Amino acid sequence: MKVDVLIVGAGAAGLMCAIAAGQRGRRVLVVDHANRPGKKILMSGGGRCNFTNLGVTPANYLSANPHFAKSALARYTPADFIALVERHRIAYHEKELGQLFCDDSSKQIVRMLLDECADAGVRVETSCAVERVRHTDEGFGVLTAHGEVHAESLVVATGGLSIPSMGATGFGYELARQFGHAVLPVRAGLVPLTLSGKHQQHYHDLAGVALPVVETRTGKLSFRAGMLFTHRGLSGPAVLQISSYWQPGDDLRVDLLPDHAAGDWLVDQRAARPAAEFKNVLADLLPKRLAQRLCEHWFDNRPMRQYRDAELREIGRQLHDWPITASGTEGYRTAEVTLGGVDTDGLSSSTMQSKLVPGLYFIGEVVDVTGWLGGYNFQWAWASGQAAGQVV
Ligand code: FDA
Repeated sequence: MKVDVLIVGAGAAGLMCAIAAGQRGRRVLVVDHANRPGKKILMSGGGRCNFTNLGVTPANYLSANPHFAKSALARYTPADFIALVERHRIAYHEKELGQLFCDDSSKQIVRMLLDECADAGVRVETSCAVERVRHTDEGFGVLTAHGEVHAESLVVATGGLSIPSMGATGFGYELARQFGHAVLPVRAGLVPLTLSGKHQQHYHDLAGVALPVVETRTGKLSFRAGMLFTHRGLSGPAVLQISSYWQPGDDLRVDLLPDHAAGDWLVDQRAARPAAEFKNVLADLLPKRLAQRLCEHWFDNRPMRQYRDAELREIGRQLHDWPITASGTEGYRTAEVTLGGVDTDGLSSSTMQSKLVPGLYFIGEVVDVTGWLGGYNFQWAWASGQAAGQVV
C-alpha cells in the first residue's frame, strides 16, 4: 500500500498529527499495535481526561533543551484545543490551577479525534504492529502486521515507556537509534516515590492518610499541592510533580504546613491549652494518625506547658522542613510519563522533522519534552502533533 504519511502510534500526538495532515489533503494512515486507539487518553484524568491547562508555558516542561518546545506550544495553544472541544460540544470544567477536564468522560476526546480523522479521510488501523522500517528512495518502506506500507513521510508517535500494560514500548527509541538519532536516558516521571529504612517502617501503615496541601522541595524547586501516604511511600500531586525533578540521592523535603506559621501557632496554643498533650494539639493541624506517628518517632509528646518557646519554634521549623528519605520511584508500572527520550538536538523545533533523515518526524512523549502534572503533557502531544501535521 502507498500513502503520503504513515504515523506509528494512534495516541494523542499521532491522531492530532493525522488530523492536521489529512485536512491538508494528504493520504494518511495511522497504525497502532494496540487493539484500540487512544488508550492513555481513555485512562487519563481518572477517566475524565485533563486535556489541557490554561496556564501552559515552556517553563512547565523538562527537556535537555528548555527552548525546544517554545515554537510548537506558541503555534498551537490551549485555546486552539478548547475551540476544537467546544466545536464537538464536549462539556468541560476547570478543576484547579487551570486544569481542564471533561465533565463526562475521556471517551469523548477519543471520539472527537476519531471523528476529525474520519472527516479528514485518515485511515486508522489498530492491532497492527510495525515489524521493520527501511529508508527507500521514495521515503520509507514499513513492514506492518497488515502488509508493507510505502510512505513519503514517517511520523513516530509511539509515546513513552509508562504503563506497559497499555501498549507502551521502546519502539520509538529503537527507531530513532536506527536512523542515527541520540536518545537521552529515560526514567519514570510523575510517579509515586518509595520510602526506605526507618521512614518506610514508621509510615507504611499510614497508607491512605492524605494532606490537602503540602510543599515538596528538591534543590530550588517546589510544588504546593496534596500528598498521600501509600503502603510503599508517598504519592499525590505534590509528590508526583517533584518526582520528575528528584533522583535517588537528592535531598527531598516536605513542608507539612505551608499555609501556617506553625511555631507561632504552637506558642499561642500553649497559652490557650496548657494541659493539652502536644500530639492532640498537632492533630488540629495534621491528620490525627500522622500527628501521633510524628510524636512517636520525631517529637516527644508532653503537656503543652512543659515546652519552652524555643522548643515549640524549633518543632514548627521542622514541620516546615520534613526531611524524607525516598529510595526510588514506583517505576513505569504507575508513572504517568517518561522523562528523556529522542534528543531534540536532532529535530527541528518548528516541524519536529529529523535533521538527519528528511521525511522522518518524532512527536509527543517519545521526544525529550516532558510536562508537569495537570494537562501539560496532552498539550505537548497536541502541539507537537499539529506542528508536524502541517508539514508532513
Ligand atoms: P501515547 O502513549 O498517547 O500513544 C502512543 C501510542 O503508540 C499508543 O497508542 C501505543 O499503543 C502505540 N505504540 C507504542 N509502541 C508501538 C509500536 N511498536 N507499534 C505500534 N504502535 C505502538 N497527561 C495529561 O496531560 N493529562 C492527563 O490527565 C494525563 N493523565 C494520565 C494518566 C495516566 C494513567 C497516564 C499513564 C498518563 C497520563 N497523562 C496525562 C500523560 C499522557 O497520557 C501522555 O503524555 C500522552 O498520552 C502522550 O501522547 P503520545 O501520543 O505521545 O503517546
